[in-house]
Amino acid sequence: MKFFIDTANLSEIKEAYDLGVLDGVTTNPSLMAKEGITGQANILKHYKDICDLVDDNVSAEVISTDFETMVKEGKELAKIDDKIVVKIPMIKDGVKAIKALTDEGIRTNCTLIFNAGQAILAAKAGASFVSPFIGRLDDISSDGMALIEQIVLIYDNYGFETEVLAASLRHTMHLIQCAEAGADVVTCPLNVITGLLKHPLTDIGLEKFLADYKKGNS
Ligand code: E4P
Repeated sequence: MKFFIDTANLSEIKEAYDLGVLDGVTTNPSLMAKEGITGQANILKHYKDICDLVDDNVSAEVISTDFETMVKEGKELAKIDDKIVVKIPMIKDGVKAIKALTDEGIRTNCTLIFNAGQAILAAKAGASFVSPFIGRLDDISSDGMALIEQIVLIYDNYGFETEVLAASLRHTMHLIQCAEAGADVVTCPLNVITGLLKHPLTDIGLEKFLADYKKGNS
């Protein structure tokens, strides 16, 4: 299972990378705006800065919505670094753009996936990753995790090579349930990754071990 961090914040990316468990980064226009990154030149430079921090898999999202411009934009993003994966929204022209970019050997991540039909289309078009948004489905009282299970099953049935990249995770239980469901990748904020470290009995146990060591060695 791969771990991606869902942020454009360089220090958070570095912290997750330094933990030794990071396989990639996902960004989106909202996350870039949150970091105050605006203007095309700054945005492209920021993607390069992210690429320099990690080993592979940096999703950079197009902001155009028509086929020709998405392909052009995708090619420009891919030129930044071999680590770039072009993120394309699940719309009609997006599916066509995924096919065109895939045919040119450019990796893509089809984003804003909310049902299995969309995931099938993205895989048929040759997307490298498909991003179903668990948290946003849960937010509208739908079952985000059921969608992950459904897509994993469908891709297994047909041997689709597209990786299921579970996105919009809100908490550590989402991550663990994704692992149970067989998601290939999870992308989540830093606190969800570091949240995996925590258990009160670990803290209590460590405190006791250290106290007992001190007693015997003072
Ligand atoms: C996925 O790549 C998206 O960037 C992300 O996971 C969306 O998460 P959100 O619903 O918390 O904005």
